[in-house]
Amino acid sequence: MTKRALVTGVTGQDGSYLAELLLDKGYEVHGVQRRHSTICTERIENILGAKNFYLHYGDLSDSCNLANLVRETQPDEIYNLAAQSHVGISFEVPEYTAEVTGVGTIKFLEAVRQVKPDAKFYQASTSELFGGIPETAPQSETTPFHPRSPYGAAKLYAYWITVNYREAYGIFACNGILFNHESPRRGVEFVTRKITLAVAKIISGKQEKLSLGNLNAKRDWGFAGDYVQGMWLILQRGKPDDYVLATGETHTVREFVEAAFREAGIEIKWRGAGLDEKGFDAKTGKVLVDVDAKYFRPAEVDLLLGDPAKAERELGWRRRVTFAELVKIMVAADLEKFI
Ligand code: NAP
Ligand code: GDD
Repeated sequence: MTKRALVTGVTGQDGSYLAELLLDKGYEVHGVQRRHSTICTERIENILGAKNFYLHYGDLSDSCNLANLVRETQPDEIYNLAAQSHVGISFEVPEYTAEVTGVGTIKFLEAVRQVKPDAKFYQASTSELFGGIPETAPQSETTPFHPRSPYGAAKLYAYWITVNYREAYGIFACNGILFNHESPRRGVEFVTRKITLAVAKIISGKQEKLSLGNLNAKRDWGFAGDYVQGMWLILQRGKPDDYVLATGETHTVREFVEAAFREAGIEIKWRGAGLDEKGFDAKTGKVLVDVDAKYFRPAEVDLLLGDPAKAERELGWRRRVTFAELVKIMVAADLEKFI
């Protein structure tokens, strides 16, 4: 029998890869998009109109809409990927972030409990829950949480309400605690894509330099295509549980900058410190990177490094794409747009 999946956030980076994966596996996929005044389906262009793919309007802030979607689509599996997902911007719109990223999850779980309690539910939890405090690494399913942003705090509520609906009502509800994952489809305001896009624009003469915030932050960066495979595996287990997905490697933002420019044949040398730090083209001496205070956050997560041992052991999940390959894929995709 054809399985049916309901995917919120289908127009986002992960939603687009997950929808493709599920269609490949023979699922009927129901994606949820928000209403926009402009077209925002760029990432799912290739599956629009595909057999077994259906788009519905919806919003995590509208509980009636969520209940209707569950009633109409009768999903076997639900992937709740929708969120105001930008950590920095969550300081600008904290209440909205709490409403969508936090409270949206209980609205959805309540719809599941009342309308289709046997549906399996995946919640897009995050390494931002750890906050890097205390500085314990690597971070695993048993590491204490200490969110450092309105986004992290909203996701903390979503995490625990997912656990609660599993324990209280026996719903097959799971958290994937995912460390950063990137791709050519990453939003342009996240640091990796901002960097690879800037490299391509600088190379093609369309941008002078790249301005960044904290160059010392360390992240465990993987490839989004590997991580959506893990989301699916989490719902295929015999019992519901929570899993960390990560690479087990960490790199600074500075290292990502160096690797991305190197892909385009430019060696970056650094001079100065703090707000005065600059990245130069080693050959020409031209300043290509500088630091702008406006990109710093009121509170920062300094170090993320995940331990995916449980997912590897119980789900057989493995990340495939290495850090070097990820940078290469992203730079190549952006260069192709401009050269
Ligand atoms: P993304 O590219 O920012 O996509 C977010 C999606 O949520 C978009 O489709 C967006 O729609 C939708 N959305 C936002 N607000 C909504 C609302 N009020 N109602 C309905 N839909 C709404 O994020 P992503 O990187 O794919 O991440 C997917 C999920 O995983 C998010 O929950 C994120 O917090 C979480 N996560 C991501 C990472 C990562 O490294 N990527 C790591 C851990 C956890 P529009 O297209 O209309 O904006
Ligand atoms: N966005 C951005 N822009 N970040 C910068 C910049 C800049 O110009 N300069 C330095 N950074 C630093 C941030 O301060 C942060 O320490 C790091 O780069 C990564 O920032 P983002 O790419 O915005 O990602 P994030 O780690 O804050 O959040 C992402 O990963 C989380 C999982 O750990 C998002 O995808 C979240 O939704 C996800 O939960």
